[in-house]
Amino acid sequence: MTKLLITGGAGFIGSHVVRLLVNRYSEYQIVNLDALTYAGNLENLSDIEGSQNYRFIKGDITDAAFISGLFAKERFDGVIHLAAESHVDRSINNPLVFAKTNILGTINLLEGFRALWEDNWEGKRFYHISTDEVYGTLGETGLFREDTPYDPNSPYSASKASSDHFVRAYGETYGLPYVISNCSNNYGPNQFPEKLIPLFLNNIIEEKSLPVYGDGNYTRDWLYVEDHAAAIDLVLHKGKTGETYNIGGFNEWKNIDLVKSLCRVMDCKLGRPKGASEKLITFVKDRPGHDLRYAIDASKINNELGWQPSVTFKEGLEKTVDWYLAHQEWLDHVTSGAYLEYYNNHYHNNQPT
Ligand code: NAD
Ligand code: DAU
Repeated sequence: MTKLLITGGAGFIGSHVVRLLVNRYSEYQIVNLDALTYAGNLENLSDIEGSQNYRFIKGDITDAAFISGLFAKERFDGVIHLAAESHVDRSINNPLVFAKTNILGTINLLEGFRALWEDNWEGKRFYHISTDEVYGTLGETGLFREDTPYDPNSPYSASKASSDHFVRAYGETYGLPYVISNCSNNYGPNQFPEKLIPLFLNNIIEEKSLPVYGDGNYTRDWLYVEDHAAAIDLVLHKGKTGETYNIGGFNEWKNIDLVKSLCRVMDCKLGRPKGASEKLITFVKDRPGHDLRYAIDASKINNELGWQPSVTFKEGLEKTVDWYLAHQEWLDHVTSGAYLEYYNNHYHNNQPT
């Protein structure tokens, strides 16, 4: 592959993937296609925007005519598809936009790629980035494996599951050379402060309440975002066509324990008295259809491609906190206007239980 399209590269994970590949593969032409929704932010890429092997194109993957024209013009031989609506709570309030972006947008890209290469797929690759949420929820035990049946519970995860199925179907039907990875919860620099860690970090800075859904006994498996980007690089280059790889942090935390840990780190970094941030914890109405537990069995990518996380959770959390504290301006930019409207609407009804 020499000409690579990365969709959603101005978002959280996408920006780390773009940076890694632009810095590592000077011989590639890397094109970042992003609609710059509320979650896309070119500030995330300011350090690499002048690189000779990098270009940004603003565009919407739901626009079929635009996407087919773009593929015809640029003739990408590889795609890493990250663009998506990604926040579960937003999907509960507005499922349709998730269906449009995550399902229709994916089909438009598959069609653009198929139109170019269906006569000869050699050396081509379509890499679809997905989530562990497609597997639904675990009970107290067990892990998600690549052969765990799909059982999505939120409009977000249903739309991602559907997009995964379309990618597979294009593989079976048209021979499209795809690879899919399903990852657990990411955290790290540049994550939009609607997701648990950056939201709570920002609220602690602002001494606002920390709205823990339900009893806080929900479990997620956390992975530092640069470790995910490294896994994506490996799967892109070494993953087997037609295969799925689960990626996870071997790092399960109950929300309430994670939040308390974050509070302790923040008290220390902000020079506040021990226990100050914990006092901000407020238990609020639960998320509808809240999945109890996610945890990944990442032994396939570990055994076959030699990937494993390089950052411990303690190190990763500290790096994340340091980054946000050093980038107050970034936070100020993304937490104005539409963010405040979303925040007030969503948390208005979430009064303490
Ligand atoms: P994000 O919300 O931070 O970024 C999504 C990006 O997609 C943004 O830059 C946005 O502008 C762009 N986008 C949205 N709609 C678009 C459209 N119609 N056309 C073009 N661009 C559009 O998301 P993220 O957290 O970085 O997630 C990236 C991908 O990884 C998603 O596919 C998500 O499902 C998957 N994923 C995320 C996590 C996680 O913990 N965040 C875990 C596993 C998988
Ligand atoms: O597992 C991978 C998925 O992880 C990705 O596919 C999604 O794009 C990503 O958003 C994430 O989904 P979650 O729903 O797990 O992440 P979120 O940060 O929204 O929530 C993490 C946990 O924290 C979850 O149990 C809900 C809880 N939570 C979240 C928010 C925003 C709260 O208790 N209070 C909150 O205000």
